[in-house]
Amino acid sequence: MLGSLAVVWLFICLLFLFIRTQRPKNFPPGPQPVPIFGNLFQININNPLKDFERFAECYGKVYSVYFGTKPAVILTGLRAVKEALLTNSGDYLGRPQNILVSDVSEGKGIILVDYGPLWKEHRRFALMTLKNFGMGKQSMEDRILGETEHLIARLEKSAGGYMNPETLFHDAASNIIYLVLFGLRYDYEDNILKEYVRCFTENTRITNGGWGLIYDTIPMVRSLPLPFKKVFENGKTVRKMTGDMIRTHKASRVPGEPRDFVDCYLDELDKRGNDGSPFDEDQLVRYIVDLHIAGLDTTSNTLLSAFLYLTTHPDTQEKCQKEIDEVLGDKAHVSFEDRVNMPYTQAVIHECQRFGITVPTAFHCTNRDTQLKGYRIPKGTFVIANLSSVLKEEGQWKFPHEFNPANFLNAQGQFEKPEAFLPFSAGPRACLGEGLARMELFLILVTLLRRFQFFWPEDAGEPDFTPVFGVTIRPRPYRMGVRLRQK
Ligand code: HEM
Ligand SMILES: *[C@@H]1O[C@H](CO)[C@@H](O)[C@H](O)[C@H]1NC(C)=O
Repeated sequence: MLGSLAVVWLFICLLFLFIRTQRPKNFPPGPQPVPIFGNLFQININNPLKDFERFAECYGKVYSVYFGTKPAVILTGLRAVKEALLTNSGDYLGRPQNILVSDVSEGKGIILVDYGPLWKEHRRFALMTLKNFGMGKQSMEDRILGETEHLIARLEKSAGGYMNPETLFHDAASNIIYLVLFGLRYDYEDNILKEYVRCFTENTRITNGGWGLIYDTIPMVRSLPLPFKKVFENGKTVRKMTGDMIRTHKASRVPGEPRDFVDCYLDELDKRGNDGSPFDEDQLVRYIVDLHIAGLDTTSNTLLSAFLYLTTHPDTQEKCQKEIDEVLGDKAHVSFEDRVNMPYTQAVIHECQRFGITVPTAFHCTNRDTQLKGYRIPKGTFVIANLSSVLKEEGQWKFPHEFNPANFLNAQGQFEKPEAFLPFSAGPRACLGEGLARMELFLILVTLLRRFQFFWPEDAGEPDFTPVFGVTIRPRPYRMGVRLRQK
């Protein structure tokens, strides 16, 4: 009896030894994985950051972790991130496939499209179209300032009281990107806007949580009726709403006279015809959905962080307001160009982005075999650039661990941007909405600070700066006091 148990035991041990997951030769080091699950059991799903920090300390700036049977390489600090995404940028152009978020987009769209002509041509098209944004009569700046008026109206209703700014910034960010894409905005009470926000928020919650990790690590469970099914349903709902919108839009368009991004794409489709190019209407729907998603949580969470810091640092807020008043005088509204005369406000906005780290990691995939710091990384390897480690790296910042606008000011009080400021990542796959995002942050923050004073409610206790972890990071829900400023 004992003998046969021992044999079974030996067999199991041998089996594990036999199928033991082994890192490829000269691959970046990391914790020893177990079969099937990889390093899943060494990572606390609810707060993985501590574990990743421990790994980086143990194994260095370039280390690897197994998510299931597949290893991912993690890059920590400016030097490693730069060497990969800038010096060898041509090797890191892919996106990981066959995980929850990329399965939802089915290889189309833009954000998660793997390296190839579809990505390349749509990236070029987006950059060009956003840059030449004279489309129609309204400039990008006008669209943003127009939405800011609605923000003001809503904040005025709360003046003299308190409010939770979460939905406010979410709705505004959604409307601005929608204005760029479709030339129209939704009323903050509109049901379509609410449905978009519901789908996006729910999907973010599920993909960020443990269910996303389980889907990604254990392919066998993918067909089971588990919460990640909802992500695919919501994806369909959003595509349907976007598709309907594009159809209505088509009916009112004048070819050759684009009013917005969608019109530009439709013109491009006319021009290309059916020459086997990667431009088509199904792709258009997914492309628009992706741009909508990309411009939503990123911008609104950055604003949420910014207002958390401004309400809890009244002296910083006051200094911005003084500078804004001086520079704008009685001009009707701010313009993006005014930023060059507002070094302090610029420094504050950048510091909000640095300290808030809205996007903590960038997910890439090698599109060919490459080398990094002497390690060999084969084609098709999942590579995670740890942007938060760069934004808070010791040696790169005067005050890496505290909120301090001096991080962006030189001795003369002029605005200066350190090299390690990479909230939009770096290289050919970096954020393509950076220009739009920077314009939004500047115009919204300046307009609101000019009009209102924001303060931390007396009864709210100590502010909690520990963020909610996810693909995008946001502060814990908070309330802020709003007062109209005396002119
Ligand atoms: C403060 C706001 C924003 C931040 C912090 C941010 C940050 C980022 C980061 C870190 C990435 C990943 C880059 C990489 O993989 O290396 C990214 C990708 C992307 N962002 Fe943004 N983003 C912001 C706003 C926007 C906006 C407003 C748009 C709208 C046009 C946008 C569109 C995109 C797209 C399309 C990608 C994927 C690019 C590609 O795969 O080629 N982002 N963003
Ligand atoms: C990225 O770096 C930060 C700061 O060093 C750390 O807390 C976090 O755990 C790291 N994340 C990953 C995925 O390595």
